[in-house]
Amino acid sequence: MTRHFLTLDSIGRAGILANLELARHLKSIKGMAQNAVPGGRLGLIFDKPSTRTRVSFEAAGWGLGMLPITLRGDELQLGRGETVADTARVLSRYLTALAIRTFDQSRVEELARYSTIPIINALTDDHHPCQALADVMTIQEEFGDFAGLRVAFVGDGNNVCHSLIQAAGYLGFTLAISTPEGYEPKAEIVEAARANCKINGGAIELGNDVRAAAAGADAVYTDVWASMGQEKEREERARIFTGYRVDAGLMALARPRAIFLHCLPAHRGDEVTDEVIDGPQSRAWDEAENRWFTEQALLYTLITGEERLG
Ligand code: CP
Ligand code: NVA
Repeated sequence: MTRHFLTLDSIGRAGILANLELARHLKSIKGMAQNAVPGGRLGLIFDKPSTRTRVSFEAAGWGLGMLPITLRGDELQLGRGETVADTARVLSRYLTALAIRTFDQSRVEELARYSTIPIINALTDDHHPCQALADVMTIQEEFGDFAGLRVAFVGDGNNVCHSLIQAAGYLGFTLAISTPEGYEPKAEIVEAARANCKINGGAIELGNDVRAAAAGADAVYTDVWASMGQEKEREERARIFTGYRVDAGLMALARPRAIFLHCLPAHRGDEVTDEVIDGPQSRAWDEAENRWFTEQALLYTLITGEERLG
């Protein structure tokens, strides 16, 4: 059966841990593993903008010996009525793996249903699992282990938050989420992760009080208040989220060793101050770098079925 990566549920706890181990190795050799998937072709489709995901996947694919082929969704016949199923069937004949960034999670699922090559979710409205792998790699680099850690997520209960919730459930850390009322993450994602926390440890806490979430945290994470596709809500959200800014005062409530995380792009002055993102606790740039190696490990494992370089 073709393996896909649609959410973190696609690989689970064992898959995440194996990904991190391989990613650490790939980072140590600067992603140079060009005999790993020689002659492979990596398709990348973007229905939304991207800086990190596009460049890190292209670098990751090239480092494995693959040819990256990046396309905008609106350049494809999909936009003129060719079905997702037919697109999946045809692209499966040319490519070795395909990553797609789009709106509805159902579109990624449909591609996977009709594709005979691995499909990778490069962000949808509901999930950003590639980001979560880089996030947990960055946490692991800092703290070594996940047990007993408290990560605060401050802001919108969005795609990045959802994937981090799944990561917390599988890796057994506590995720304390603070959102304005009405912007909570989806209940079914929270409930499924809570069930996993019963097995793996940790907890998913929900609330509206940013200070309570940040208190005693080992890491404080935030993301934009208006995600791609929500541009029209930007002003309204800026008003509603105004108390959810990560600034030096909020970081002072976290543990002295706490790190600051952000998936990027950041809207400086909105969800985070310059002082915090540019400060000594920020790991945002390492987190961005780690996208390259976790994605490279992911590609390798999905394509070859192996968790270690041969
Ligand atoms: N974090 C992230 O996915 O960034 P891009 O939107 O630049 O790809
Ligand atoms: N939540 C953001 C993440 C960007 C990487 C968005 O979907 O726009």
